[in-house]
Amino acid sequence: MQPRGRFITLEGSEGVGKSTNIEAVAQWLSSRGVEVVRTREPGGTQRAEAIRELLLTPDSDETLCVDAELLLIFAARAQHVAQKILPALQRGAWVLCDRFTDATFAYQGGGRGISSERIAELERFVLGDFQPDLTLLLDMPVAAAQQRLQGRLAASGGERDRFERERGAFFEAVRQAYLARAEAAPGRFAVIDAAAPLATVQARLADCLDQRVGPWL
Ligand code: TMP
Repeated sequence: MQPRGRFITLEGSEGVGKSTNIEAVAQWLSSRGVEVVRTREPGGTQRAEAIRELLLTPDSDETLCVDAELLLIFAARAQHVAQKILPALQRGAWVLCDRFTDATFAYQGGGRGISSERIAELERFVLGDFQPDLTLLLDMPVAAAQQRLQGRLAASGGERDRFERERGAFFEAVRQAYLARAEAAPGRFAVIDAAAPLATVQARLADCLDQRVGPWL
């Protein structure tokens, strides 16, 4: 059966404000009568969340190798799509997902240096031609995003996860890979400049949703 709901993803490097802004997107949709299923990657189901733990736990005695990282991400995605995303779309709900395959092209591709051809092979294997209907990319310079991340960690007393421990050059590569994906697929992506104060970013998001999602309602 063809999925009926819409699939919207939110992307961006750490510190760009995804968590706050995904809440605003969910509210925008709910206020227009859309049933929204909010979820995230890696994770979204019990078993996929267990894989998330493996991916985010910092390396201690044993380093997680790059190919294992990539395969775990797609294993979690296969489970998430089959158990949660497709069933929701098929019953007419919309799915709003914090990260999806574009993150793999950005982090494992740009950040870790795995070729996009290899990632695209796994994408075809796991997803066929299933893709988000709209991807909102929150973008800002890496130094500013890292400062925000630092502030958040200081306020929460949280530890950096395995990805957050990477250096600036890694996140610069992630950012550039995201921007290249957006440039290659302007019909699916909307890039939001997230460096402004929160109220401005949220006004930009709302404008973008009016233009891109409004016609689907
Ligand atoms: P989050 O903290 O934004 O939820 O994301 C968890 C981390 O997982 C984040 O640092 C990015 C990373 N990640 C990848 O490396 N590849 C992927 O495909 C996904 C979905 C996330």
